[in-house]
Amino acid sequence: MSDNTVYRASTTAPVNIAVIKYWGKRDAALNLPTNSSLSVTLSQKSLKTHTTASCSASYTGADSLLLNDEPEDIQSNKRTQACLQLLKRFRHDIEVKNPSAPKLSTMPLKLVSINNFPTAAGLASSAAGFAALVRAIANLYELPHTPTQLSLVARQGSGSACRSLMGGYVAWRAGTARDGSDSIAEEIAPVSHWPNLKALILVVSADKKGVASTAGMQTTVETSTLFKTRAESIVPQRMEEMEAAIHAKDFAKFAEITMRDSNSFHATCLDSWPPIHYLNDVSRAAMNAVETCNRKAGKLIAAYTFDAGPNAVIYYEEENEKLVAGVFRYVLQQVKGWEGEYGAQIPSNEQGGLEA
Ligand code: DP6
Repeated sequence: MSDNTVYRASTTAPVNIAVIKYWGKRDAALNLPTNSSLSVTLSQKSLKTHTTASCSASYTGADSLLLNDEPEDIQSNKRTQACLQLLKRFRHDIEVKNPSAPKLSTMPLKLVSINNFPTAAGLASSAAGFAALVRAIANLYELPHTPTQLSLVARQGSGSACRSLMGGYVAWRAGTARDGSDSIAEEIAPVSHWPNLKALILVVSADKKGVASTAGMQTTVETSTLFKTRAESIVPQRMEEMEAAIHAKDFAKFAEITMRDSNSFHATCLDSWPPIHYLNDVSRAAMNAVETCNRKAGKLIAAYTFDAGPNAVIYYEEENEKLVAGVFRYVLQQVKGWEGEYGAQIPSNEQGGLEA
């Protein structure tokens, strides 16, 4: 008699926005970075991926993934395969130790994922996507692994995904081991540590980005002369300064490092050949708006950062919300043709991420 039992687990994972950027791989196959990075996990109220993983001996065919209702070709996707193989191996180890455990590792997997924000528009969709995929399968397989141990798996799906398995402030240590065993993410402070820090997301464009991050960082590593200095001489010290700023809740220092690191990352993009342009006129207007806020306040009260796309993320402390929102409304009204929107601003919650 065949067993029709369907095993199922669901989870959600948040987006994270780096304040020290990951840009460049030292090993593309294992997805090992050239430098450490640090991010803030956003609240799941506004941006998240929801994933359900199921498996059954009654399922036929290969493992499958539906992303936003569209089938994805995961058989030829090496990154997804690397994650699935590792997770199945962990489950297999449990089954060997406990022969009465159902043989989930041999059953076809069905994965269903939904993003509640634009996919691949520079809004860290791959980070939330792979974090949710890894967490959902780890739950389905009842793996005992910690988020840091699972970060090794998520990293192989997409580098930034390893930072979305934790809430609050998360460092991804580049590590030095050739097999990547020390390239892991760890929470350096929970969201409750700095509850009045907030993020405003400016959706400048919801289109798919021009140069995907994997290809963009490869071009930068191969052609930019600025890149080596950034990875080797600038970021290591910045990581230490940023961790100290977060621990001390020193917003001015946090803001300066965040903006300098975003600018340094985009400078290496511009220094690549062919040059990579992620920012547009609205992005530059957002930078001006932040500078106006800071000038009006006479100190740093707002900070911008941009990933591989034109959308801006603005960090500020809650007590400065009126000034920041007012300046943004005014400056962006002056930009012709801008049809974007503000992200909703909601107070922090207990889920582990910063409200955006
Ligand atoms: C600019 O994590 O998308 O957002 O590892 O190739 O999937 P892959 O790259 P990905 O790159 C993110 C780059 C970034 C900076 C960051 O999030 O640290």
